[in-house]
Amino acid sequence: MAHPHPADLHFPNPLSYIPMKIAVLPGDGIGPEITTEAVKVLKALDLNLQVEQAPVGGAAYQETGDPLPESTLNLARRSDAILFGAVGDWKYDQLDRALRPEQAILGLRRQLRLFANLRPAICHDELKNASSLRPELVSGLDLLIVRELTGGIYFGEPRGRRTATDGRFPGAPEAFDTMRYARPEIERIARMAFEAARLRGGKLTNVDKANVLETSQFWRDTVIDVHKSYPDVELEHMYVDNAAMQLVRKPKAFDVIVTGNLFGDILSDEAAMLTGSIGMLPSASLNEKKQGLYEPVHGSAPDIAGQDVANPLATILSAALMLRHSLQQPEAAARIESAVDLVLASGLRTADIFSEGTTRVGTQAMGDAVVAALGAQ
Ligand code: IPM
Ligand code: MG
Repeated sequence: MAHPHPADLHFPNPLSYIPMKIAVLPGDGIGPEITTEAVKVLKALDLNLQVEQAPVGGAAYQETGDPLPESTLNLARRSDAILFGAVGDWKYDQLDRALRPEQAILGLRRQLRLFANLRPAICHDELKNASSLRPELVSGLDLLIVRELTGGIYFGEPRGRRTATDGRFPGAPEAFDTMRYARPEIERIARMAFEAARLRGGKLTNVDKANVLETSQFWRDTVIDVHKSYPDVELEHMYVDNAAMQLVRKPKAFDVIVTGNLFGDILSDEAAMLTGSIGMLPSASLNEKKQGLYEPVHGSAPDIAGQDVANPLATILSAALMLRHSLQQPEAAARIESAVDLVLASGLRTADIFSEGTTRVGTQAMGDAVVAALGAQ
């Protein structure tokens, strides 16, 4: 009897003789260069992978008139995991919102129900001097932001523009968005965060704005209820403004942070900066079936695209997260991560993390060095 493909069953590949299907969506700016290096690293592992590429973002808009063409979405749907580069370029800023490159990532999140965004912020000891904070504040930093990714004000309806009929300026043109969260939506992200905390330092910080927002109070109440199933995890609550401050005051006090879509967007950029280079940080966006989209936290950096200067390590580390969370290959994931450590310890640096006494290399040479380090293990 023929076995159904695991992707059709929508759970990660349990059978080693069936290839794991990876959709590679390079996107815009430095996206193609950095995903090329990550694929190079994946191919250097002895795994049964089937890699297929498709356009996304501005690149897809230029080819097809749509930043997320049906064919790309279908490829993503049938894959066990997606390796995503980055989207966006100033040249598309004038387009209608529906045609902008950012719609591709928002569409993938929504269509694949990727509700859980894991954004680790780890400060590699060799890079502690690259942080904008004093090295002693960030040395050893290892925190995880669990951001809700398919709800809140990003997707809430209604939204739009209209002429105000009430409020303080009747008759005036106005714009509005809706922040809303349903209880199951909060419960599932809270469970994900409690489980992550349980496997790490055992502490969860819930970040909201419960002193002002109804959605936040509801969010907080729900997190408190979910906590009853995780009594072994310590739970604290923090308003988002205070969290933004504590992140730069005493970042090592955090273990896992759980928060809504908008607050998570903002705080994860802040946390990324603490580590010295946003060029180092991977992320995972997962759905209930652990199908996932993996992408670097940094953007498309069109100003340095095509110059072989971008740092491919965040994308390479995203490939490691993909092996761990969607493809059930924890050993292969760990091999990539230690290869990256080895390369950093050997003193190789791309421009963004370069400092006196280290060796500056380009995008491709960095990818090659990780492949070589894999071979040396
Ligand atoms: C991110 C990005 C996206 C977001 C943009 C590109 C839509 O900033 O992944 O954090 O706001 O979620
Ligand atoms: Mg962001």
